[in-house]
Order: sequence, then structure tokens, then C-alpha cells
Amino acid sequence: MQALEVHNFRLHTESRKRSQTNPSVRDMYFSKNIGLRRDWYTDAAFGQQQFTGTNPTTITLASRRWIDEFMSVCSVQKRADVTKLLTERAESLYIQDYSDIRPSIGLSPGDKIFSEGRYGCSSVALFHLEPEGKLHPLAIVLDHRGSMQQSVTIFNRRITSDVNGDEYVDWPWRYAKTCVQVSDWLRHEVAIHLVNTHLVEEVIIVAAYRSFGPNHIVFRLLEPHWNTTLSLNKAARETLVPSIIIGMTGLTAAQTYAFLMAAYDRFDWKGSYVPNDLRKRGFPVEHLDEPKYHNYAYARNISRTWNIIRKFVTTVLSKEYPGGDAEVLGDMSIGIFCDEVRSSKGGQLTSFPEIETLDELIDFATMCIHVAAPQHTAVNYLQQYYQTFVPNKPSALHFSIPESLSELCSFTEEDLLSALPLQRPRDWLLMAQVPYLLSFEVPEESTILHYAETTSSSRATLEVIRSAAQVLTSELRAFIDTVSQNSRELDDQQTPYLVLDPSRTAISILI
Ligand SMILES: [Fe+2]
Repeated sequence: MQALEVHNFRLHTESRKRSQTNPSVRDMYFSKNIGLRRDWYTDAAFGQQQFTGTNPTTITLASRRWIDEFMSVCSVQKRADVTKLLTERAESLYIQDYSDIRPSIGLSPGDKIFSEGRYGCSSVALFHLEPEGKLHPLAIVLDHRGSMQQSVTIFNRRITSDVNGDEYVDWPWRYAKTCVQVSDWLRHEVAIHLVNTHLVEEVIIVAAYRSFGPNHIVFRLLEPHWNTTLSLNKAARETLVPSIIIGMTGLTAAQTYAFLMAAYDRFDWKGSYVPNDLRKRGFPVEHLDEPKYHNYAYARNISRTWNIIRKFVTTVLSKEYPGGDAEVLGDMSIGIFCDEVRSSKGGQLTSFPEIETLDELIDFATMCIHVAAPQHTAVNYLQQYYQTFVPNKPSALHFSIPESLSELCSFTEEDLLSALPLQRPRDWLLMAQVPYLLSFEVPEESTILHYAETTSSSRATLEVIRSAAQVLTSELRAFIDTVSQNSRELDDQQTPYLVLDPSRTAISILI
């Protein structure tokens, strides 16, 4: 493992040197990646990725059912210390639950997730949000087989973040954390990124073209956020998914499409409005400035951008619909649009609501901009940093997942290395290269701040949008400082969280 770290450092240094002689030559090791951190493998770095990594969108307050299930394993494994903590801190336990992967792809609990030499897993990870705000991993189910009794669960030797211990050599626990990262690779790339941003936005775009005239205010308001998305998605459907992504995970092609469809069917439009989503996952927006949540910079930033966008949208739509709810209800295009999004011959997005009030129209338009701009940016552009160094977040394992706790507990460094694609250079390169390509830097003229600035001064823009964009511009400029401040307040000061800076946030789904 140390050799991989040294190799990663050398590739980074050489890339930097090369670019000094020829600045146009850059490769995937030019930018920093997490493998350059001496502590990349620690519980602290792992916990923080749930808040500010590539997928900061699924960490959720643990339900009573999960707490009880982990407690029953505690008693079997005689971990009274964990039982005590789970009892006393039940309101601060969070979970990453990937146990739905098998059912989503039609596998039985006894089936391995396996394709062409690659293994997938459906982990469940339990975390404790400590009073000072550190998200500390407590327990991991390697690969949920329908019940805890049928699965291998390992508890962290370090029950709190301030317990000392040589984390580098705790290979069974490191292997378990790698399983979680593999599970999250699938959830993040296919569901959170591809389905919940690229494909959901595509449905909105196509339905809007079919329902609104080009001068309809909703069309004029949203159209700048659709740049490149349709052609890009076509390329993803024709090439990226079938020829690249499917060959990177433990799922077959049919299973990958089943997983994708399950994610689409489950997509909850209104439940994904930022305040609803954060509340549902146990992070109420009104409490996010409390010290306990200071490390959840994604939540703090995204709730602020939601409010900024919503204010902009409210200004425009309130002026355009002076008759309020009755006028919205009387707008035939909106009704046609909603039917198109839900239709079994159209968008098939069954959770899409009726839009019958001005407030509902404002929320809808805010959501469309949110998905296309800040949300996609948050889940897309950190891939190079967290995934180019393959040991941090591989897309699959290359060694069968242990079937018993005693087997897992006997794991050494060799076992973790055997699970990585060290003998499969194509797999290794794809795992490193794809995230790098997807993290392609946003050109300055494609940022949301640039949009606000140009819109607020362009004579070609409708006056109602132009004047609202002036306020949007000043709020986005001020928000740059908020993003920096939220990043400076993180316990982890080695990796700044600046991805939602409006001068970097893409205006649309560009890549
Ligand atoms: Fe993307």
C-alpha cells in the first residue's frame, strides 16, 4: 500500500514538472488527489467523505430498525461498549444504507454480486455524529445478505474519534471501509449522479420543449440551464454507460440497467427539494449552523444556494403571474407539462406533482435549476480528487468478499491489495481515468455566476429576468465568501470544500 502511495506521489510530482515546461500538457495526476494525504485511509477522512465527498447526499439518520439490528449484533459479538453508545446516542446515529442493491437488481440474498471477475457489495455503514461534529464510523456490514444474521458485520475497534490506535494496520476494518466505498461508487455514479441529475433533468428538458412555447416565462427562465445536457446524455447512453461504466462494476449489463431503473422509479421529486431532503435525512435546515453540523458543508452550502435560487425564481414568477394561484392554474402549458413528465408514454416520473399554485410553480422551477447547476456540480466535480487514487474508492473488488467474521478478522495487507485491480491494468486505469475525465474543469463562461452577471446586463434578456438577475448576481458574489467560510470551519483543513463556489458551479449539466 505504501508503494501505491509513493507511486501516486511520484506521478503527481512528475505531472507538475511536465506542465512547467509545457503548460498545455496535463494529465489525471496534475491536480491533487486524496492519496497525497498521509491520513487518506483514516476513519476521519472516511467519515468526512460522507459529508463533503463525491456523494454527500445519502447519509441519513438511522431508523430504530437499524439501531436494533446493530444492537443485536453487538450482543452476539459482546461489544457492550457499542451497545451503551447506541442506547445513549440513538438520536445521533447515521447510516449509509446500500442494502437495497441486491433486491434492486433481482438477486437473492444468497447470490454474489459478480460480473467478469469483479465483485460488488451492498454494505451498510453505521456512524456516530459526535457532539463536536465528527462523523465517526462505528460498524460496517460488508455485504448485506437480506438480514444481519446472514451477513458479516464488523465493529470499529475505535469507539470514538479520540481513541488512539494504529489505523494504518487495521486491515480488516480498512477492507470493510473499502466495501462501503465500492457500494457507494455504484450508488453515487449510477443513481445520485447519472439518474438523479442527468436523466431527471433530461425529462424536464424534453417535456418543456413539448409543452411550452419558446417565449413562455418558464421556458425562458430554465432554458439557460439546459446547455449541452441532451447531447451529453445521448453520448452517455450510447457509449459511456454500455462500453465503460458497465465494465467497471460487479454488475452485469442487465443488472446495471435494473439498478438504474429502480433509482429512477424511486426518485422523489418533491422529497428532493433541499429543505425536504435534508429534514428527511435528519439534518433540519434551521439547525445547520449549530456546531454539531459544522462539518456538513454540502448541506450548509446547498441549503443556501436553494434559497438564493428560489428568491430569484420568486421575483420573476411573481411578476409574471400577478393573478397568483388562479393564473397558474389557468396556464394550460403547465398542466400539459406536468402530464408529459408523468405520462407512461413520456417522462414516466410518477412522483412528479401537480403544479396548481404559484408557490408550487416557484418550487418546481427552483428544483430544475438546483438539479442542473449546484446539485450536479456537487456530485460531479470532486470525482478526480477522491477516485483517481484508486485505493480510496474502487468501483469493484477483485477478490471474493469474506463469508465470515473470522475470515475477515484474519485479513492482512495482502488481502486488501488482492481486492484491488493491481493485476488488471485496464480496470485500474478506468477507475482512475473516468473520474478525471468527468471532473473536467468548468470554463469561466459556463458558471452560474457568469450567467447571473451577463443576464443582469444583457439587453436581449427579458426585463423581469434581467432585474432579478441583478440581485442574483450580488447574492452569488456574497455567497463565495460563505463557501470559503464554511470550508474554513471544517475540522478537516487538508481538503477545502469549495465545489459550490458560484464562480466554479456549472450553469448546466455539461459533463
Ligand atoms: Fe455529470
